[in-house]
Amino acid sequence: MQKIVFATGNKDKMREIRMIMEGLPYEIISMKEAGINPEIIEDGTSFEENALIKSRAVAAFIQENKLFSEEDRKTVIVLADDSGLEIDALNKEPGIYSARYMGEDTSYRIKNKNLIDRLEGVADEDRTARFVCAVAAVLADGREEVTRATMEGRIGYEEKGENGFGYDPILFLPEFGCMSAELAPEQKNAISHRGKALRMMRDRLQEM
Ligand code: IMP
Repeated sequence: MQKIVFATGNKDKMREIRMIMEGLPYEIISMKEAGINPEIIEDGTSFEENALIKSRAVAAFIQENKLFSEEDRKTVIVLADDSGLEIDALNKEPGIYSARYMGEDTSYRIKNKNLIDRLEGVADEDRTARFVCAVAAVLADGREEVTRATMEGRIGYEEKGENGFGYDPILFLPEFGCMSAELAPEQKNAISHRGKALRMMRDRLQEM
């Protein structure tokens, strides 16, 4: 079966990709399962570039270190994603620096409060923001594909909701009338930036 290596160390992302690819003739492998942990410097200037940097690095590692069988190396696909929060009134900050915003180890309570504080006095209609996700695929023959999707909302006035992670408690989703952190996980996966970008990539791969 054709192998797909998903370049992430995140268990939730692995579960999501497995659900999305269910029923298709792919064997989905995490970096951990493949025994890969290359040091990757994410120095791109966009979500797309960073996703490509990760998937190219892992694809090169697989070929250079002759992982899997020769047959498998000829068909293996490497996927990677990169995501973050863009706030229009803050010139699209924190953007590609979402995880590193105010320091990687700073709690999201503090990050979220800081972003709300920075929007003090900004009217509802100018608080537009979105989660963005880019998914990149690198095929063994060198072909590359990138998909991008968003989940649109507005930054609220206080944190709300216990589900999700990161900036979920401050992104208000007008369509649902609640914060992203108030959606059930299945509900969020069905409409999330990552879910949409991964499903677009799944469909794109089917056509290649
Ligand atoms: P990465 O793509 O795993 O590097 O994640 C980037 C960062 O963006 C995360 O650490 C979060 O801060 C933020 N982020 C991305 N997607 C979401 C989401 O669905 N909810 C909340 N925060 C998110």
